[in-house]
Amino acid sequence: MAMYVCFTLLVAGLCVLPALLRTLCPYLLQDCAYILNAVRLGLRLERYKRRARFYSILDCFLDAVRKHPLKPFIHFMGETYSYSDVDRESNKVAHALQKVAGLKEGDTVALFIGNEPCFIWMWLGLAKLGCASALLNFNIRSKSLLHCFSCCGANVLILSEELCGAVQEILPALKEKSISVYVLSDACSTDGIKGISQAITQAPDQALCPSLRANVKSHSTSLYIYTSGTTGLPKAAMVTHERVWAASFIQAVSGVTSEDVFYLNLPLYHSAGFLIGFAGCIERGNTLVLRRKFSASQFWDDCRKYNVTVMQYIGETMRYLCNTPKRDNDRDHKVKIAIGNGVRVDVWNEFLKRFGNIYIRELYAATEGNIGFINYTTKVGVVGRVNFLHKKLFPHTLIKFDIEKEEPVRNADGFCVPAAPGEPGLLVGKITIKSPFVGYAGNKQQTEKKRLRDVFVKGDLYFNSGDLLRIDHENFVYFQDRVGDTFRWKGENVATTEVSDILTMVDCIEEANVYGVMVKGHEGRIGMAAVVLKEGKEFDGIDTCRVVANYLPVYARPRFIRIQSSLELTGTFKMKKVKLVEEGFDPALICDPLYFLDLVEKKYVALTQEIYNSVIAGDIKL
Ligand SMILES: *[C@@H]1O[C@H](CO)[C@@H](O)[C@H](O)[C@H]1NC(C)=O
Ligand SMILES: *[C@@H]1O[C@H](CO)[C@@H](O)[C@H](O)[C@H]1NC(C)=O
Repeated sequence: MAMYVCFTLLVAGLCVLPALLRTLCPYLLQDCAYILNAVRLGLRLERYKRRARFYSILDCFLDAVRKHPLKPFIHFMGETYSYSDVDRESNKVAHALQKVAGLKEGDTVALFIGNEPCFIWMWLGLAKLGCASALLNFNIRSKSLLHCFSCCGANVLILSEELCGAVQEILPALKEKSISVYVLSDACSTDGIKGISQAITQAPDQALCPSLRANVKSHSTSLYIYTSGTTGLPKAAMVTHERVWAASFIQAVSGVTSEDVFYLNLPLYHSAGFLIGFAGCIERGNTLVLRRKFSASQFWDDCRKYNVTVMQYIGETMRYLCNTPKRDNDRDHKVKIAIGNGVRVDVWNEFLKRFGNIYIRELYAATEGNIGFINYTTKVGVVGRVNFLHKKLFPHTLIKFDIEKEEPVRNADGFCVPAAPGEPGLLVGKITIKSPFVGYAGNKQQTEKKRLRDVFVKGDLYFNSGDLLRIDHENFVYFQDRVGDTFRWKGENVATTEVSDILTMVDCIEEANVYGVMVKGHEGRIGMAAVVLKEGKEFDGIDTCRVVANYLPVYARPRFIRIQSSLELTGTFKMKKVKLVEEGFDPALICDPLYFLDLVEKKYVALTQEIYNSVIAGDIKL
């Protein structure tokens, strides 16, 4: 009898166990699945590193070419390129560059090319020679462009034809340094820029000998990707081959397979587009649909035309898509996974309601950072989850942060203070061999600035992400805000000091304090500047517009200007921003003269209540 009771209890216990586990640890299964997946990928990377010759993402591409040469790799504007087409094109590029530019293993080449297939075979061709590529943002000009080119140490610049004008501006400086400049066209009328298309067309398409890249190791630099830093001009983050692999795994972690079709409409010069998108497609061996530029009106037509199953997004993507006029065929598509970051819960819900059920894989990562999160559970609104393994492999903490002073809070002993659960804090990741911070090319000072020392004990070393996050009681991670001197607009980071440097080049402006302000109905923050005029000068809206348009990409141009008689400084002589950000740009509330950048008139005009109302109502496009 007793045994029978025991037995029933046991059976009953076993029956309720799963239910009990689900209540007590609702995310256990999802945690386990994620951890298993992560361990498998980690072991794979270890294997690649241990091989006699390091197995890079290029080798993975070459294996894919052998396995399915005829499978479409890239769809672009109605053209389809198979794996073997892309392989042959990149062979030609490599042979031509070897012959014409004398490139060899260890050289660095800067690519100044838009989102087009050519970008991809240029990169593959360079990888075949064992060269690193610097991916220049094709929106930047003049001082920024020259700076970005110079800091990666490249001695060759390759550009697409439509960017010739931008390079002409900096050509004298390039000539001085004996930089070779090649344009992807047959010939170029500008002295100092050589056409290279003919050499590529005429080059043989046979494979290149792997011995040309025999010394490429997991820790060699594969790419330079530019990030807008907290201060000054963009910085070139060094991306190692190991890092390329790690980022390429994000598709795998998100459940993407080799059968999927991936829609890539983000710029290839950013890590999201290049590493998660393009490199991820090589890792999965699937097909990618490449677009020059995101277009909300053509988005779903493209998805239908190419049977797209996976899309990539930034916060703005979802909002732009939701803002398009409703159509009967809104749900007629095969997209099932979306990978990206920056989506807001309200927009996401609207998106789902309208376009059908799509798994969103929200993630948090920085190009140069040593810590990342991915939303692998079914919880809405989070960028990820901290679990045991993740915390062990990538030790990180949120620390209390003083927003006014823009620095971490330190206690009486001079150490940082962990944020309480649920409290926003600055994300810092311990720098270890497994989670390194390689730093920025040719910029020791900026590299050092991202390092935080003596965080919890004397002599420890952390990477300062510059981002405020929040981790709740259940270990879910939420993105809060970016701190300090950058803000995001239209998916691009804007460095405020870079913008103020340009503003102070304007004749009438003495000093400028740049920040981002929120506008209802928009993701991110739009640029605004508080400026002090030179003695006896009037604000010149035409000249200011001319300088700004000349030197800054569209997304970085301040749309609002506020004239002040002096700029407020903090105790540590930094410019005060918090109050200005809060005050925004409402002429009814601000007594200082306000100006608005009118894109049609091409000048800054006085910001009237009427303009303000139109901006808020969305009648003026920002
Ligand atoms: C998309 O799928 C349909 C039916 O499954 C097929 O007929 C068509 O060829 C596919 N289109 C492309 C571009 O692969
Ligand atoms: C996280 O993923 C789940 C499942 O795919 C999804 O339902 C949820 O909306 C996501 N949350 C956010 C912000 O991404």
